[in-house]
Amino acid sequence: MESHIQNLFAERIGGKTFGKEDVIYKFEKIKRAKKAAKEKFPDMELIDMGVGEPDEMAHDLVVDALCKAAREPQNRGYADNGIQELKDEIPLYMEKVFGVKDLDPENEVIHAMGSKPALAYITSVFINPGDVTLMTAPGYPVTATHTRWYGGDVEILPLLEENQFLPDLDAISLEVCGKSKLLYLNYPNNPTGAQATKSFYKEVIDFAFENEVVVVQDAAYAALTYGEKPLSFLSLPGAREVGVEIHSFSKAFNMTGWRLAFMAGNELVVKGFASVKDNFDSGQFIPIQKAGIQCLRHPEITEKTRQKYERRLSKMVNILKEAGFHATMPGGTFYLYVKAPKGTKAQGNQEALSFANAEEFSQYLIKEKLISTVPWDDAGAYVRLAACFEAFKNGEVSLEEEERILNEIKNRLTDVEFVF
Ligand SMILES: Cc1ncc(COP(=O)(O)O)c(C=O)c1O
Repeated sequence: MESHIQNLFAERIGGKTFGKEDVIYKFEKIKRAKKAAKEKFPDMELIDMGVGEPDEMAHDLVVDALCKAAREPQNRGYADNGIQELKDEIPLYMEKVFGVKDLDPENEVIHAMGSKPALAYITSVFINPGDVTLMTAPGYPVTATHTRWYGGDVEILPLLEENQFLPDLDAISLEVCGKSKLLYLNYPNNPTGAQATKSFYKEVIDFAFENEVVVVQDAAYAALTYGEKPLSFLSLPGAREVGVEIHSFSKAFNMTGWRLAFMAGNELVVKGFASVKDNFDSGQFIPIQKAGIQCLRHPEITEKTRQKYERRLSKMVNILKEAGFHATMPGGTFYLYVKAPKGTKAQGNQEALSFANAEEFSQYLIKEKLISTVPWDDAGAYVRLAACFEAFKNGEVSLEEEERILNEIKNRLTDVEFVF
C-alpha cells in the first residue's frame, strides 16, 4: 500500500526513493553469498574471516564492576557528559599506555557512547554547507556520511601500499585545503592494518597548522599493535593544539556492545563536542562508565588479547604466503589486508578463472571455498581477513580449535593456484 510517508523521507537518505533503490551493498552481497554457499555445500563448514568484532567476552573484573554498580541506586540516572571519576582515569591510562602526559581531566577528555557516534557528532561541531572533510579510504565511513548530511563535501585521500597506507597530504590541492575543516585519520588502520609513524604525525601537525584544520584521529585499535609499542597522536608536540584522538573500549577490551569510548586532546574541540553531545544523548549508563574505569586500570586485559591476535595473525600470514599471496604482519588492528589475485590457473577439469576486482574474488572465496572475507576496491583490489574469528571449545578459547580452523583455511587455499 502506498503511504504518504514514502514522500516525506529526507534527501540525505534517498528522499522519495528511500528503500526502493536496487543497489545491493557490499555486506548484503556477502550475506547472500554465504547463504548460497551453505545451500550448495551443506556439509562444509563456513569459516567466517569477515568479522569485525572480538570473539571473546569482556573480562570478569569488568563485568563484576558493572553488576555491582548497577545495583547502586545513585548510578541509575542520566549521566549527561560523563562522570568525573572516569574522566580522572583517562589521563592516567593515556600516560601509562601511550606516554601522553598531563591531559587535563576536566577539559581535555570526555566520554562517548562508542566511537561511532563520536565520529558522527564531530561533524555537527564543525561542518557548515560547503566545508570539506579530508577522509582516508578505504576506511570507516561514518564521518564522511555525516559530513555530507550537513551539506559538506568529502575529499578522499587514498591509502596506497606504496605509501605504507598513509595518505599523501602533499597531493591535496590548495583549493581543497582552503575549504577543509576536518582531517580524519585512523591508525592503526581498518582495514589496511597499517600503523602511523611519528614522522607522519609530525607532517600531519604541520599540515593542520598551515591549513587550519582539525585532526580527528580514530584510535579504535590503538593498543593492538605488533612489533612496535602503541603510539598516540597526542604524544607528539603540537598535536593537542590541532586535534583530538578517539579511543574505544570496543576492541581493546572486548566490549563492542557496551558502547563506551572517549575523546582526548584539544580543549576547544572537546568543548564543542560536549555541547553537541549534550544535545544528542544523555551519556552512557553510569555502571558501564564505572566498569570502563576498571578497564583503564587494567591495560593487561588488552595485552592478553593483543597476544592472541598476534599469534593468529602471524599464522595467517604464513598460510597466505604459502597460497601465493603477498602477506605481511600488520602494524596493528586484528586485520590482515592482502591484494586480491587476478584469477586462478586451470587445474584438471577446473577451468581458469579471472577476478575483475576484490569483490569477485571475495564472492569466489565464499561460494567455492566457504571462507568469508571483506573485499575493498577503493584503492586497489584487496581483501580483509580478521583474526578475531571464533575458535572455542567448551566455552574457552582453544588453541587446538584455532589450529584446526587455520589448517582448514590452508587446505582450501592451497589446492588452487592463484594468479597475481
Ligand atoms: C576504524 C573504526 N572506528 C570506529 C569503529 C567503531 O567503534 P565503536 O564500537 O567504538 O563505535 C570501528 C568499528 O569497527 C572501526 O573499525
